[in-house]
Amino acid sequence: MPRAMPQRFRVLITAGPTHEPIDAVRFIGNRSSGKLGLALCAETARRGWQTTLLLGPGTVEPAHHPHQTVLRFRTTDELQRLLRELWPQHDVLIMAAAVADFRPVASNTTGKLRRTERRLTLELEPTPDLLAALSHSTRDDQLVIGFALEPADSLIDSAMRKLASKRADAIVANPIETMESEQIEATVVLRDGSTCTPGKALAKTAFAAWLLDLIAPLAARKKEPEGSAPVRDES
Ligand code: CTP
Repeated sequence: MPRAMPQRFRVLITAGPTHEPIDAVRFIGNRSSGKLGLALCAETARRGWQTTLLLGPGTVEPAHHPHQTVLRFRTTDELQRLLRELWPQHDVLIMAAAVADFRPVASNTTGKLRRTERRLTLELEPTPDLLAALSHSTRDDQLVIGFALEPADSLIDSAMRKLASKRADAIVANPIETMESEQIEATVVLRDGSTCTPGKALAKTAFAAWLLDLIAPLAARKKEPEGSAPVRDES
């Protein structure tokens, strides 16, 4: 009797912050360490899944792995360009990057703002919602996992809202305290309205393995919707 074989997926992971330039030496950023994205990348590569990691500024470069390609981005614009180019060649997107919501309208990236005694007002404009924009080119066989950083008392409600507005298949909702912590206590909200949680705080590496175990059958179902032939072990 042939056994069902664990499938390998092509995974695109984004991790870390964006830096939106104010001038040649200053930027608006956030405190994302990229650690969860790096843990996810190590785990997907370990499973033999072809992994492309888009990694934000100020984050630690992962050790080389033959299944993994690392590309750097700095701004929301750069990340958007990479996503547009690379998403069609992947099966799963794990959008763990902490993308800026606002950026300076006019940035002088070749010069430097000089100190004066006067007040300075920075005008900010909203960045595009990369996940929502990407949903227009997402195929039925692709799986999209978003993240949400939320106050603990509105975690699930906000994640449900983001699931709909970003047209993701699942949202991994994290309490705000997770940002610089070594541990994570997340709840995953799924399209059918159900939620999954490991039930306790986990180290980010352990959480990465737990999340990928959850994602694998969802990704497999996207590739082989009900009624089509199941995957068989040919060996
Ligand atoms: N995200 C995105 N584009 C943005 C901002 C966020 O694609 N401009 C993605 C993040 O990578 C994450 C998800 O959307 O996967 C949720 O990000 P979050 O910052 O929690 O939500 P926001 O859309 O920024 O909404 P809010 O600021 O109200 O929390």
